[in-house]
Amino acid sequence: MKLLVIGSGGREHALVWKLAASNRVDRVFCAPGNAGTEQDGENVDISASDIPALVEFARQNAVDLAVVGPEQPLCDGIVDAMADSGIRVFGPNREAAQLEASKAFCKRILRSANVPTADFQVFDNPLAAERWVTERYEETPEDVPLVVKADGLAAGKGVIVCSTRDEVFEAIDHVARQKSFGVAGNRLVIEERLQGIEASVLAITDGRTIVTLPPAQDHKAAFDGDQGPNTGGMGAYCPTPLVDEKTLHWIEEHVLVPTIHTMKRNRHPFRGVLYAGLMLTPQGSKVLEYNVRFGDPECQPLLMRLNSDWLELLMASVDGTLDRLPALDWDPRSAICVVMAAEGYPGSYEKGQPIRGLAEAAAVEDVKVFHAGTRRKGDAVVTNGGRVLGVTALGESLANAKLQAYRAIKCIRWDGAWCRKDIGDKAMSANV
Ligand code: AMP
Ligand code: GLY
Repeated sequence: MKLLVIGSGGREHALVWKLAASNRVDRVFCAPGNAGTEQDGENVDISASDIPALVEFARQNAVDLAVVGPEQPLCDGIVDAMADSGIRVFGPNREAAQLEASKAFCKRILRSANVPTADFQVFDNPLAAERWVTERYEETPEDVPLVVKADGLAAGKGVIVCSTRDEVFEAIDHVARQKSFGVAGNRLVIEERLQGIEASVLAITDGRTIVTLPPAQDHKAAFDGDQGPNTGGMGAYCPTPLVDEKTLHWIEEHVLVPTIHTMKRNRHPFRGVLYAGLMLTPQGSKVLEYNVRFGDPECQPLLMRLNSDWLELLMASVDGTLDRLPALDWDPRSAICVVMAAEGYPGSYEKGQPIRGLAEAAAVEDVKVFHAGTRRKGDAVVTNGGRVLGVTALGESLANAKLQAYRAIKCIRWDGAWCRKDIGDKAMSANV
């Protein structure tokens, strides 16, 4: 079979690597890919946002299955376009992708499915939003625990967590008047601020049957101890003991199943991967957001642990046959992914730094170095993004996996390379 993975990050490298391991697969193309996907598959020089060119490539090369990594092409309707051309494609169509494309849509689905989530209000103009905040918090302007969100896609940046009324007003201004996130801010969602620990639960679905994957935890803040600005994710591990077996079942029953049923009932059947970003609060798990794609970097430790054929699972989602698939086989060990980033990330950073020590790192036992922002330049691999590599390791315990990942990281060098040193520590200190 011939496959096409769309995207160029660490998630896409992990997808290419795992799909190439299936014995039914002959070729894995990746558009546009990076220096890692080029090693485990074949890069195609087409941007992930050029939907007509991707469809044309898939048609001309008789691609049997396309797998979409990032949210933008999903929200722009790549699945509809591929399906119209008779190409099998893993992921939700444009209507179903609204779960991520519009936070107001997502909240309405959550409410009608009776899924626990923060209380919220939707506003189409900043004045109405400010009036609501003023009236509601008239007595306590210094204590306004609200979160202001741009409704649309904002590359993970359209969420502002606030504590006071002035902060909320500033956030509303930023999103809805200055349009710092463009048209994504034409509508606002303002919601109650939740307290707790965050976790990610991903599930593959064909619109009827759900296969829940082991829980993972991302580390979104740039620096150790969850300090500093928000990033795409500086590391992840799987499974996380913060979501035990009982909690996972509860999430399946009270979050995933009602969401999938409600999507179906509302004539937006959801196929693909549903990623629930959860807050584990003292009152139970609540949904912060849905993503309609694999998490990056959660995908890397997840796939590192999967023994089953990944292609079978994705095909069953596309074909609507997940109910007939045997249970997945997971490596009982823990996996951890530590992101190595370029100096300056998540702000501005330089590209083109030569990366050394990749072969030494790859030789460390139970380690796979997934590439994210890299590209080949002659014989060298150079940096080409903010998140550059996702060094991923397996270990008998999370502590062992961590040791192994950092052992591999020590081999890798470029000017300005850095990473968080505390990935996985929250699970270890939780002592569960
Ligand atoms: P989202 O894109 O909606 O997941 O938001 C990005 C990040 O903002 C989340 O990972 C949380 O850290 C934070 N966040 C979002 N919504 C809330 C909320 N209601 N309460 C507290 N933090 C939140
Ligand atoms: N790891 C966060 C995300 O993929 O959105």
